[in-house]
Amino acid sequence: MKGIILAGGSGTRLYPLTRAVSKQILPCYDKPMIYYPLSVLMLAEIRDVLIISTPRDLPLFKELLNDGSWLGMRFEYAAQDEPRGLADAFIIGERFLGQDSVCLTLGDNIFFGRAFSPILKSAVRKVESGQGGVIFGYYVKDPSSYGVVEFSPEWKVLSIEEKPAHPKSHYAAPGLYFYGNDVVEIAKNITPSVRGEIEITAVNNAYLATGRLSVELLGRGMAWLDTGTYDGLLDASNFIATIQKREGMFVSCVEEIAYLNKWITQDNLLALASSYKTEYGDYLRQVAEGF
Ligand code: G1P
Repeated sequence: MKGIILAGGSGTRLYPLTRAVSKQILPCYDKPMIYYPLSVLMLAEIRDVLIISTPRDLPLFKELLNDGSWLGMRFEYAAQDEPRGLADAFIIGERFLGQDSVCLTLGDNIFFGRAFSPILKSAVRKVESGQGGVIFGYYVKDPSSYGVVEFSPEWKVLSIEEKPAHPKSHYAAPGLYFYGNDVVEIAKNITPSVRGEIEITAVNNAYLATGRLSVELLGRGMAWLDTGTYDGLLDASNFIATIQKREGMFVSCVEEIAYLNKWITQDNLLALASSYKTEYGDYLRQVAEGF
């Protein structure tokens, strides 16, 4: 399975913060936002990742993340010149994906919670055994700005609606999607919505229509944080800071995950540690030395 991080968009909802720079490169406490979705792919043991952003912002992502070898990974980059919708990622990524299945993560979605890796690995297994698509459902007070999943009393998925004015449930679909390679053809056949985008919700409905979509509920122990507003951004930063200061363990530390996945050596990690003259560097040294 390969990974795609979609880090495009115009970010107008965060103006003036994002007038000159991509939202997904803004800080969430001590690290750039894109580290968080990148860490999710790494926890799913995905090593090949395509990063899609605007022509303006791609050079920044390349400077930040390079070819991925520092994490024992392989990164490629592609431009999305206009925000044509999330499903456009599969069309842009067609050559990169080849015959592989895919996990798409949105560059501004932050997850934190216990036992997340087994959930991710099980989604990878399901999709790789040809079961179609796996997405997630997360209970939120107001789901109206997301894709919303409607369930029957027996928890059968009935519908998925994009940003409904009258949501049929409280379950939002976070920006984390696992699909078989057929998603490329599905994406190519989607008619743009009224906002002119090829919606990920249309992809999910295509899988649902053929009975090939699983929606896994993420329970209350999981945090899925919103970064779409100034307050959401600040709250997410404070949340990460609170956990890290209390536990002394970092959230979505990509260098640590690469080391624990055995994708980089202890020497690699120590070299990274000494290149950061910050608490982050001290933490990497601690990880390398086994706390
Ligand atoms: C997108 C998707 C929506 C999903 C959300 C998760 O919304 O269209 O279905 O619930 O991401 O972050 P957008 O970021 O375009 O508002």
